[in-house]
Amino acid sequence: MQVRLQAKNTFTLVMVIGFIYLAYLIFFQAGDGFPEIDINLRDIASYAVLAVEMGGRAVKKIHEESGLHISKKGLTDEGKDELLTKADLVSNYLILDVLQRFPKLKIVSEEKDSKVTEQEASRYRDDQYSIWLSVKDILNKMPERRLQLSDVQVYVDPLDATQEYTENLTQYVTVMTCVTHGDEPIFGAIYRPFFDETIFGINGWGVMSSSGSKLTPVDLDKTIKTVVVSRSHAGKVESFAKSAFGQETQVEPAGGSGYKTLRLVNGTAEVYVHTTAIKKWDTCAGDAILRAMGGSMLDLEGNPLKYGQNEPVLNQKGLLASVRIPYTYFKKVQPFVKDSKL
Ligand SMILES: *[C@@H]1O[C@H](CO)[C@@H](O)[C@H](O)[C@H]1NC(C)=O
Ligand SMILES: *[C@@H]1O[C@H](CO)[C@@H](O)[C@H](O)[C@H]1NC(C)=O
Repeated sequence: MQVRLQAKNTFTLVMVIGFIYLAYLIFFQAGDGFPEIDINLRDIASYAVLAVEMGGRAVKKIHEESGLHISKKGLTDEGKDELLTKADLVSNYLILDVLQRFPKLKIVSEEKDSKVTEQEASRYRDDQYSIWLSVKDILNKMPERRLQLSDVQVYVDPLDATQEYTENLTQYVTVMTCVTHGDEPIFGAIYRPFFDETIFGINGWGVMSSSGSKLTPVDLDKTIKTVVVSRSHAGKVESFAKSAFGQETQVEPAGGSGYKTLRLVNGTAEVYVHTTAIKKWDTCAGDAILRAMGGSMLDLEGNPLKYGQNEPVLNQKGLLASVRIPYTYFKKVQPFVKDSKL
């Protein structure tokens, strides 16, 4: 009897302490008065894929619509601006709308004054359920991984290769989302709206395309000796790339960071070099995919890009990317980086 009573008291005491501890955790520990939330990377990655496809379909529809009004001469500057602004805002709206299913998820995207109304955006909203069905089997193959929501951020690029988009160079256009954990990009999705294809990768697992194929790096001897660079500063990079990688190297100007990364993924280019400042939502998804293949993006000082919450969104140190041995490539460019004071 005595023993039982004591056991009961002990139990009650433990329970009370347990409750007090929980209350303490809830009200004092977590930053803004919320308990720490666990999420599954697979869930968030699934929504990130859904989001890029939603945004990307709108990007394509808006382009088609404007195409109807374009004369043979193409768009005026004003027309270009209008097209771009609309596609960018609507895509951003639809992407955030999907991601908002995760309350308190931190999203890094260009500041958009929400000029888009639900009514306007809904004209371009595709049926979520059918998109979902088309990718669900592949998404189910993704590994489960529990993360603390407070360590996670999602980078959003609602329209990459904006200039090319207005010039009807649609092959360069992509829409991207990327999940980071601490400093590291751990999941990236790149959607090509005009080809209806998504490539996505999870660090430590691998890279897949929405058509269901698993993508692995192309053998080095079958990889095309091309360095892809931005269309706006191709001239400057050309001599530096040839000095670093050999005179036989082809330097190809191409639009969009997402597109250039995809060229590395399918082995139609070996290295991607960028010598000026670049925003991290332009690189995050590609970086995650390259890391999932065994490569990565480095800045031109040789450091992996960091995506953590206290890191600046603008990377001012340039970029060197490949699906393999990025440090080996970095060693080759290093002397020239110094010379050209990039
Ligand atoms: C854009 O390019 C596509 C295919 O390359 C073509 O069919 C279309 O007519 C072009 N549109 C404009 C406005 O130039
Ligand atoms: C490689 O990827 C790029 C970008 O997605 C695409 O334009 C190109 O057609 C692909 N080439 C091959 C041979 O798969």
